[in-house]
Amino acid sequence: MAFEPVLTKGIGELDLVDIEVYEKQGGYQALRKALKQMTPEDVHAEVKKANLRGRGGAGFPAGVKWGFLPDDGRPRYLCCNADESEPGTFNNKMLIEYNPHLLIEGILLAAYATKAAQSFIYIRGEFKRGYDVLVKALAQAKAKGYVGDNILGTGFSQEITVHRGAGAYICGEETGLLSSLEGGRGEPRLKPPFPAVSGLYGMPTVVNNVETLCNVPFIVDRGADWFLSIGTEKSPGTKIFSVSGMVRRPGNYELPLGVTLRELLEEHAGGLLPGRTLKAVQPGGASSPVLLPEHLDLPLDFDSVPAAGSILGTAGVIVFDNTVCMVRTALYYAEFFSHESCGQCTPCREGTAWTARILRRIERGEGTMHDLEVLRSLKEKMSGTTICLLSDFSITFLQSVLTHFADEFEAHVRGKACGVHSLEVRSA
Ligand SMILES: Cc1cc2nc3c(=O)[nH]c(=O)nc-3n(C[C@H](O)[C@H](O)[C@H](O)COP(=O)(O)O)c2cc1C
Ligand code: SF4
Repeated sequence: MAFEPVLTKGIGELDLVDIEVYEKQGGYQALRKALKQMTPEDVHAEVKKANLRGRGGAGFPAGVKWGFLPDDGRPRYLCCNADESEPGTFNNKMLIEYNPHLLIEGILLAAYATKAAQSFIYIRGEFKRGYDVLVKALAQAKAKGYVGDNILGTGFSQEITVHRGAGAYICGEETGLLSSLEGGRGEPRLKPPFPAVSGLYGMPTVVNNVETLCNVPFIVDRGADWFLSIGTEKSPGTKIFSVSGMVRRPGNYELPLGVTLRELLEEHAGGLLPGRTLKAVQPGGASSPVLLPEHLDLPLDFDSVPAAGSILGTAGVIVFDNTVCMVRTALYYAEFFSHESCGQCTPCREGTAWTARILRRIERGEGTMHDLEVLRSLKEKMSGTTICLLSDFSITFLQSVLTHFADEFEAHVRGKACGVHSLEVRSA
């Protein structure tokens, strides 16, 4: 039996942006059920039981995170992370633009469960269309009594504020996001204290990704046992895999967690372009180490991918075939991370800039074997030494391709030329 999508059901067929259409599909029923039949503790317990793991990158269980909020009388806040800046990742964008009421309902349920005083959606600056869609959807939801004071006459009140970022990757990191939302520079903060204890304006705060929150209405409506019946034992539910790169049908594919890389690429994304061979795949956006063709039968879930040496991350699956030069790709990423470093930490600010400078030299055929040694030594200097993980992330792809595609780097250094692109020219 074909798998029936959950979060993406109706997208491309129905105008779910229209609240009436969303309601006809059962929309806002979970909110009604929660507010009328469940306590906040019941909703929290159901999400915890469902083991809904965060979809923003780390896979941390949402129900456990909500449980870290101290019960000390201070106001609590809920922030939806809609910054989605990870290269190769575009599933939040689709949910926001084509199913905004699902996100609003998920936020309301999470706010109810965590007893949040106010909710925020921090949306990536470039998502102008998504921002407009959300503002319009919120006005519709307010007019219907789903947002605002005394929602559905139950005494529960919640305002949702949409805040646009200004195009910085680092504002996707949760504490950078909070700094930016407060009106300061988007600079990450040292953890601990974690946002659950000291977040927005120093108050207990939950930060959850768009896709994480979009799962909540289904868990409340259909129950944790239903959710646990999809995916794998430790990674239940579906995941929207954003597939890009050298495949015939790039796009978003919602599939059960644990689907194999082979099924995702061959059955859903249409396989490789004609005459090409698979070289490598990044399963979790630009920040993830590469998987190799030998990993095609690997289940894509939060535990199997790390066991194979990479991370599921955002499930932004980037496919490289035999025509892609890994040196040039590493340079492209290095320039991205150097540009996006906020500059607070020396290993990150200097390390990302020098990595890009060295790779530029190697790519031009002016590098030395010593440059390769320097690049290989970056792990001990740039991992675990900074305020946030951008520094660590900036070198994961590079370290993996230096290991698996050392010949390409050496061809650039010793042969002063790109082996891959000259091969392509020769075969053309
Ligand atoms: C450099 C960096 C960038 C990040 N960018 C995003 C992002 O764009 N969207 C996101 O949801 N999480 C991002 N994260 C992860 C967040 O810090 C946070 O863990 C996440 O929003 C929590 O939501 P979840 O538990 O629902 O996954 C990023 C983390 C780092 C270190
Ligand atoms: S690791 Fe980089 S991005 Fe993160 S806080 Fe330090 S300088 Fe800023």
